[in-house]
Amino acid sequence: MRQKINGETKVLGLIGNPIEHTISPIIHNILASKLDMNYVYLPFKVENGMLDKAIEGARALNIKGLNVTVPYKEQVMDKLIEITPFAKQIGAVNTLKFTDNGYIGYNTDADGLNASLIKNSIKLKDSKIVIIGAGGAAKAVGMLCAREKCKKITIINRTVIKGQILANNIRQYYNVETKVLGLDEIGKIEPFDIAIQTTPIGMSPKVHDNPIDDTDFYKKFHIAVDLIYNPTKTEFLEEAEKNGIKILNGFGMLFYQGIKAYEVWNDIIITEDILEDVMNELIN
Ligand code: ATR
Repeated sequence: MRQKINGETKVLGLIGNPIEHTISPIIHNILASKLDMNYVYLPFKVENGMLDKAIEGARALNIKGLNVTVPYKEQVMDKLIEITPFAKQIGAVNTLKFTDNGYIGYNTDADGLNASLIKNSIKLKDSKIVIIGAGGAAKAVGMLCAREKCKKITIINRTVIKGQILANNIRQYYNVETKVLGLDEIGKIEPFDIAIQTTPIGMSPKVHDNPIDDTDFYKKFHIAVDLIYNPTKTEFLEEAEKNGIKILNGFGMLFYQGIKAYEVWNDIIITEDILEDVMNELIN
């Protein structure tokens, strides 16, 4: 069904910088069309120092929902009237919902990853997880693993102190065993279940980079998840696959975080058949 823009069209969008390569508008505009909803989703590049004005302007213009991406997921938090408890734990917001009094902040990144893992029969509960990286994306992943009652979280990061801060933050909310290692201590890792790669290493155009070269590492676990979706198979996933490990890239997380945002904005649950339909249109 073709969307018609008219006087009743509601606007959704994405704020961030850079945003030129985003595929969120494609996902959301297909969704609006499949659900026959009168919405349009647009990318809004927000220059450094303009975030306050962007949020105020969006509110004044009645923009019903916004996704927030790099570098504003943390900065945006003090411009909201309310933040969900889980987004507060993560310390980042990627979805804003309009209300008459201001925007409410949500984090659908973690739940997007969770949906992708569930869809691929990957179980966090009772699993021993290794998280590679301790940046913004790792925060959402760590908090999700703890919330879903994993058995143990080991964080591997170049800057050990950042890993320790993340581990402490997780333990502030959840009673889970944590361990932190530097990238140079990978040999010390004991067998575990799932490795989740959260750094930008291996992302296009630097597709030959891999955060972990140590070949022994790939003999210690059986599921590898990379949050990167471009390329579809990073060096990290390539190496894992060579070792018989089941692999999953970040496309599902991106897809489902968008779906979850759309559900938040519209107070709806999007059914499996619509999801399949949107996914098919997206990949064709
Ligand atoms: P994001 O919000 O996308 O997670 P980020 O907050 O900049 O991005 O975090 C990037 C992560 O990738 C960090 O864990 C970073 O390690 P440091 O904490 O040591 O900075 C890691 N990272 C990025 N480039 C790296 C590189 N070349 N080698 C090792 N780690 C790297």
